[in-house]
Amino acid sequence: MKRTIIITGGAGFIGSHVVRLFVNKYPEYRIINVDKLTYAGNLANLKDVENKPNYTFVKADICDFDTIYALMRNENVDGVIHLAAESHVDRSIKDPFTFARTNVMGTLSMLQAAKLYWESLPEKWDGKRFYHISTDEVYGALEMTRPEGIEPPFSTKASSGKHHLAYGELFFTEDLKYQPHSPYSASKASSDHFVRAFHDTYGMPTIVTNCSNNYGPYQFPEKLIPLFINNIRHRKPLPVYGKGENVRDWLYVEDHARAIDTTFHNGKVAETYNIGGFNEWRNIDIIKVLINTVDRLLGRREGEDMGLVTYVTDRAGHDLRYAIDSSKLQRELGWEPSLQFEEGIEKTVRWYLDNQEWMDNITSGEYEKYYDDMYKGR
Ligand code: NAD
Ligand code: DAU
Repeated sequence: MKRTIIITGGAGFIGSHVVRLFVNKYPEYRIINVDKLTYAGNLANLKDVENKPNYTFVKADICDFDTIYALMRNENVDGVIHLAAESHVDRSIKDPFTFARTNVMGTLSMLQAAKLYWESLPEKWDGKRFYHISTDEVYGALEMTRPEGIEPPFSTKASSGKHHLAYGELFFTEDLKYQPHSPYSASKASSDHFVRAFHDTYGMPTIVTNCSNNYGPYQFPEKLIPLFINNIRHRKPLPVYGKGENVRDWLYVEDHARAIDTTFHNGKVAETYNIGGFNEWRNIDIIKVLINTVDRLLGRREGEDMGLVTYVTDRAGHDLRYAIDSSKLQRELGWEPSLQFEEGIEKTVRWYLDNQEWMDNITSGEYEKYYDDMYKGR
């Protein structure tokens, strides 16, 4: 079947993996990557697909309703996979307005453009899909609860029946109420509500997925994993927020892209699916793995760079623990994470060490200044 799909934010970290997967896997589809190319957007992430006949890049702001509406109409778009967003929590603490503008108003502009165009067609919603990519942070933070007398991490069973190491007995499930804490997660929560409102009010065929922390190639080095790999390489301090005890659930980015493919094609309209790796780590433990791996791959003595760990003032409102229960997606759509964390992290570290030029192009100039300002006084 032929389809024309807009993927927003395709020049960013996750978006570039989604674009690559769709362009290569579905030569019969036309994939239009709509991206404003903010500091986080980088066309170098898509060098390997930029000349494919089924791929087009359009530089546009999702808040620019007229441009998005014209694009939908002129290109006869029948699917939207919406990833474009401001995505970094620390930036949202400094500048919440930008997050409300892009994440809330931008999502609304995408929804309204799709609605007006699709409603104008004789077949209306038939064969259409608006798929919104969201985050687990909308559910708030989980406690580090544990069974009596057992220190975390302990082995537990989520509702999928799978055993894994966990730092608490509760998980984010799709029916949990939203309790966002940061301006970033508040803006994503708001956008999720708009997407569901467009289904409930107008009948738009929408789907939402909420995913845990992604890691892998092409992630902007303001996020924990690429930032720390680069700092270890250059023997710069590693700013660990608070005591480093916060827990995140890590998923390899290509597994997220596969989940998006599965959900876009087979997910049920109006449903929400959580996506996660059943892979909880305390920050400080992941940081030790990163130091050992970078040291080993650079031919240094493993652990030689442990002294770079620098405890700094905690992030304001820092969420303690995220842990996703993705058993609904596994049960209903048959998706599973494919990579063990050890394998994924080794691949990831190798990729950043082998792609120093990519990193240097991003970290020189403006970003370096931002980074210095961000950590001044911490
Ligand atoms: P990213 O910051 O790497 O990329 C965001 C992309 O959106 C960039 O290419 C940027 O240029 C583009 N963009 C920003 N504002 C825009 C605008 N106004 N118009 C058009 N394009 C714009 O983000 P990411 O980490 O790849 O996250 C992608 C999506 O996935 C986001 O919606 C995020 O909330 C969600 N998400 C991320 C994670 C994660 O761990 N990174 C986990 C779950 C969900
Ligand atoms: O859970 C999904 C979310 O994961 C996504 O929606 C966000 O877009 C993405 O940025 C990510 O949010 P986090 O805040 O969890 O990711 P970040 O990489 O910024 O931080 C991971 C953990 O590491 C967090 O507990 C804060 C801590 N940290 C982070 C940085 C950048 C540090 O200790 N030091 C640092 O310098």
